[in-house]
Amino acid sequence: MSGQASVNILGIAGSLRRGSFNAATLRTAQELAPDGMRMEIFDIAPIPPYNEDVRQQGFPQPVEALRAKIKAADGLLIVTPEYNYSIPGVLKNAIDWASRPPEQPFDGKPIGIMGASGGALGTARAQYHLRQCFVFLNGLVMNRPEVMIPAAQNKFDADGKLTDQQTRDFLAAHLAAFKAWVLRMK
Ligand SMILES: Cc1cc2nc3c(=O)[nH]c(=O)nc-3n(C[C@H](O)[C@H](O)[C@H](O)COP(=O)(O)O)c2cc1C
Repeated sequence: MSGQASVNILGIAGSLRRGSFNAATLRTAQELAPDGMRMEIFDIAPIPPYNEDVRQQGFPQPVEALRAKIKAADGLLIVTPEYNYSIPGVLKNAIDWASRPPEQPFDGKPIGIMGASGGALGTARAQYHLRQCFVFLNGLVMNRPEVMIPAAQNKFDADGKLTDQQTRDFLAAHLAAFKAWVLRMK
């Protein structure tokens, strides 16, 4: 049954870099999404630095848009780089903005995590920090399978296409499991 059911996923990449391996991974996830999974990508670049004084005046438009899209999605897929053993400030900033009351949109939301890095651990440390953020926010992060793409510079071509077949297969398996996770949490 779950093979025929459909889910809408919002995808976020934690890097603003044009040639980002993580943005490329997210585009590949969109391409490899299983039947019945539709994925929209949200660009966090326009989100300003968090400022409580600004929030008191109301959420800036890009934050309002992010919150609305998270609320409307059946699940959230975050593809994060690792910066100094943690998640990039721009990603944390977007999560911080979106998490503010009222009705913080991560509560009860199924979440999938992937990451690509130039290092040997493929964002493992950043991913565990990201999971920690969603403990307080009550995001329902899928445990396994994990997608950690090490030595990313060897796995994408100059156009940002993921050329490593093993990694593509792994991504597809993760997405199938994520679809099942989203349907199970619904
Ligand atoms: C500020 C900064 C810190 C970094 N720290 C790490 C790190 O802790 N671990 C790691 O594997 N790579 C680290 N890197 C290298 C990134 O993995 C690499 O730049 C990667 O391409 C970033 O992701 P992107 O291609 O999606 O932009 C760091 C890069 C930057 C810019």
